[in-house]
Amino acid sequence: MDRTAPPTARRGCDTILPSSPDQTLAERIAALKEERNAVILAHNYQIPAVQEVADLVGDSLELARAAAKVDADVIVFAGVDFMAETAAILSPTKTVLLPAADACCPMAEMISAGEVRVLRERFPEAAVVAYVNTSADVKAESDICCTSANAVAVVESLDAEEVIFLPDRNLGRYVARFTTKKILPWEGYCIVHDRMTADEVMAARRDHPDAEVLVHPECRPEVIDLADHVFSTSGMVRHACASPTSEFVIGTEVGLLHQLEKKCPGKVFYPLSKKAVCVNMKKTDLAKVLAALERCEPRVTVPEETAARARAAIRRMLDVPIP
Ligand code: 13P
Ligand code: SF4
Repeated sequence: MDRTAPPTARRGCDTILPSSPDQTLAERIAALKEERNAVILAHNYQIPAVQEVADLVGDSLELARAAAKVDADVIVFAGVDFMAETAAILSPTKTVLLPAADACCPMAEMISAGEVRVLRERFPEAAVVAYVNTSADVKAESDICCTSANAVAVVESLDAEEVIFLPDRNLGRYVARFTTKKILPWEGYCIVHDRMTADEVMAARRDHPDAEVLVHPECRPEVIDLADHVFSTSGMVRHACASPTSEFVIGTEVGLLHQLEKKCPGKVFYPLSKKAVCVNMKKTDLAKVLAALERCEPRVTVPEETAARARAAIRRMLDVPIP
């Protein structure tokens, strides 16, 4: 019996696989993806070229769901570190690669596991809800995670009447509008969304009087007050495509405009702020995606003791139905 592997056998991350220099970067990525049985998951804020080579482009919740169930040996995460960590926690038997090893989320670094433990001592009756934009250590100290797409549903699913919400103060205050529970927000924030101002919304309304204004819940309360709708990134895409309106002002990171223009052809999108650029989301490019697939590096792993506790908080979130 011939025990040699057939030439088409997929090889996971067992070997270094250089690709052919005669092909374009996108072609080499596609070929290596096939050879390694890999998928590329990309956040909506990635540069267009990276979005175009991805198997799935989505918001944090869609990407977490995909990471939990995807049938692949290797996940290449085009995003920032907490997203790749979440994938590694949910799929511990898969190899998770973060092409830009230094792509981090400054908001996630605004709270530590030690600070969560202190909060628990101070508010022993409160449940702890951790935005997915947190480290694995912080998730491990939390009762449940949430994303911008399900934060209200997650808080409403809890028995506790008091909720420590971390680390995003703006998302925490946004959730507080929709619940009778007492929300205790941590003072973290997204350095991209927190910079958007009410003056920018008013100027955009003057410049584009027929446009609907969609903003992300990481924006400040006064920006949210002036918006027509508040959505996660993929929520904005779904709403814009379904809406009879044809012009939109988009109050989130500018990378989302690529998905909006692609998925809602014929509609026009204006960024609320051209300065709304997350430098960490822009650290991934095609050369880094290719290098990651060739070398199977940089890998993201989470120690199982931490991962097991963080996994419980993430899985609880994934079990919460979104209305
Ligand atoms: P969503 O795509 O989940 O709305 O998240 C926005 C964000 O800032 C991710 O870092
Ligand atoms: Fe973090 Fe904000 Fe960048 Fe998202 S956009 S990764 S929340 S800094």
